[in-house]
Amino acid sequence: MTEPTGEHAFGRHAPASHVLIHVSDPHFLAGGARLGGRYDVESNFARTLDAIRAVHPNPAAIVVTGDLADLGEPDAYRRLRAAVEPVAAALGTVVVWVAGNHDERPALREGLLDLAPTQEPVTGVWDLDGLRVIALDTSVPGWHHGDLDDGQLAWLAEELREPAPHGTLLAMHHPPLPSHLPLFDILELRHQDELAEVVRGSDVRGILAGHLHYSSHGTFAGVPVSVSSATCYTMNVARPASEVNGMDAAQAFGLVHVHPDTITHTVVPVTDAPTGDYFSPQWVEKMARLSPEERLEAFSRKR
Ligand SMILES: [Fe+2]
Ligand SMILES: [Fe+2]
Repeated sequence: MTEPTGEHAFGRHAPASHVLIHVSDPHFLAGGARLGGRYDVESNFARTLDAIRAVHPNPAAIVVTGDLADLGEPDAYRRLRAAVEPVAAALGTVVVWVAGNHDERPALREGLLDLAPTQEPVTGVWDLDGLRVIALDTSVPGWHHGDLDDGQLAWLAEELREPAPHGTLLAMHHPPLPSHLPLFDILELRHQDELAEVVRGSDVRGILAGHLHYSSHGTFAGVPVSVSSATCYTMNVARPASEVNGMDAAQAFGLVHVHPDTITHTVVPVTDAPTGDYFSPQWVEKMARLSPEERLEAFSRKR
């Protein structure tokens, strides 16, 4: 069980039982090439990994929701693995690799998972001390839109037949959500009604997705969906929807706190900005020594 150090139950909710890191869309290229000749995806990813190291000492998993490589090149997967595995080892955590539309299943399977280089969907099930994570493969070989075929949906239904003690998180690349950017609906996930059928009534408590290169949230079959922004480049959603393009800024990842009664998704900006120092471990310790009434007096009362 993850022990969220530095997190005290000062409020009415019990502390998180699990903390996960949700990263998406690294889009690595062979030889460390820049994406589109423009975006230094490896440097941007290294900054993300530094932020992940800093944000939590022992997350239950690092979930990477697809578009791991931009062109599916074997060297891109080698480089990504070499970047992530030492960080995962240092944090004592597991990595959940999810396939996206830019990935090529054979190279991904061989390069990241030491599996035979086949076109089999990249799926998996993890038991993280009672929290189940299921990776789905929404990629379609030869295409950029998403889909889930009968075989994968039947497999998912079978996996979900028995509930897990802390419930289930699904990890998938194409989010089962609309996008306000016209380009993404062309590439949307097919067979969403069939997926909803499987999810409804199950123990699925959340869906982690990527693909959009901007942070977004919605619900699907009554389940919250959290889309993590990208580590490589992000969509500048400050512009009108029909004029949105990529930019080398606002990269972010997700910090997922699984509480007994809810799951929160915090967008963590990967940024280097001067930061104040009022709140500190010592400040938290000081608060921890007070009674709830004293804490209110010390921190809530307006002076
Ligand atoms: Fe992507
Ligand atoms: Fe994608």
